[in-house]
Amino acid sequence: MTTKALADKVAIVTGASSGIGRATALLFAQEGAKVVVAARRNAELDTLVIEIETAGGEAVALAGNIRDEAFAVALVEIATDRFGGLDVSFNNAGTLGPMGPSQEVALADWAEALDVNLTGAFLGAKHQIPAMLKRGGGSVIFTSSFVGHTAGMPGTAAYAAGKAGMIGLIKTLAVEYGPQGIRVNAILPGGTDTPMAHQMLDSEEAWTFVRGMHALKRTSTPQEIAPSVLYLASSASGFTTGTALLVDGGVSINKT
Ligand SMILES: NC(=O)c1ccc[n+]([C@@H]2O[C@H](COP(=O)([O-])OP(=O)(O)OC[C@H]3O[C@@H](n4cnc5c(N)ncnc54)[C@H](OP(=O)(O)O)[C@@H]3O)[C@@H](O)[C@H]2O)c1
Repeated sequence: MTTKALADKVAIVTGASSGIGRATALLFAQEGAKVVVAARRNAELDTLVIEIETAGGEAVALAGNIRDEAFAVALVEIATDRFGGLDVSFNNAGTLGPMGPSQEVALADWAEALDVNLTGAFLGAKHQIPAMLKRGGGSVIFTSSFVGHTAGMPGTAAYAAGKAGMIGLIKTLAVEYGPQGIRVNAILPGGTDTPMAHQMLDSEEAWTFVRGMHALKRTSTPQEIAPSVLYLASSASGFTTGTALLVDGGVSINKT
């Protein structure tokens, strides 16, 4: 019998109500993890929990907003109370924020995007790390983006700043907690077919253009991104920390 990659592990996945987070929560559960699934929409989370349990896995849902520190605390509490501790976190929830010329971006919209995408990720890690330290180590994973890291895209200032800020965050956390066995990494997906992508790309022409930006001349699916998160969560990546892992179909290197 092969051992599952996350057997006996407890994980938190944010942004689990759809897209990359949902696909990753399903894969984590399939690989043996007990999963706390989080997002704002309760009904979608409940459906996911049923799906995981029907497949023989274990999960619990908690709805809330990742910009609230109390929610970050509550997620760790539920992981500890229900499943006995915390080993893995996938801080994946995110928002597009204001799209359009920077000179027209309202301060409140800028601040909200940074609150969710960057401060929300920080708050998650801040409260997850002490629980992981009690287990003697763990893996913290964020979802960043090629936008703001390897590519500049007009009209994405707040999104790019938040996602690029995360790269600084992982490097700092990786050196701060590496000596205590905690690894901290980010995935940087390329264009992935999710509700967020459809919010940004609202026509077939836009999708065709974005497919063409990738070396592979296509976009991805959430199911194709999830195994990279599993890799960073599992012991297979035991010597990998502080890394911004491109899972981007070559959008970062394509010049054609
Ligand atoms: N799709 C792409 O092409 C792409 C590329 C690079 C990076 N990413 C990143 O991938 C991550 C996942 O996005 P996705 O593409 O899978 O889109 P998605 O399907 O729209 O998922 C976004 C998730 O974030 C949750 N969320 C948003 N704001 C939240 C908040 N304030 N508090 C709690 N949960 C919140 C949403 O759930 P609720 O609405 O229920 O709260 C949803 O579960 C994001 O961080 C995104 O920036 C996506």
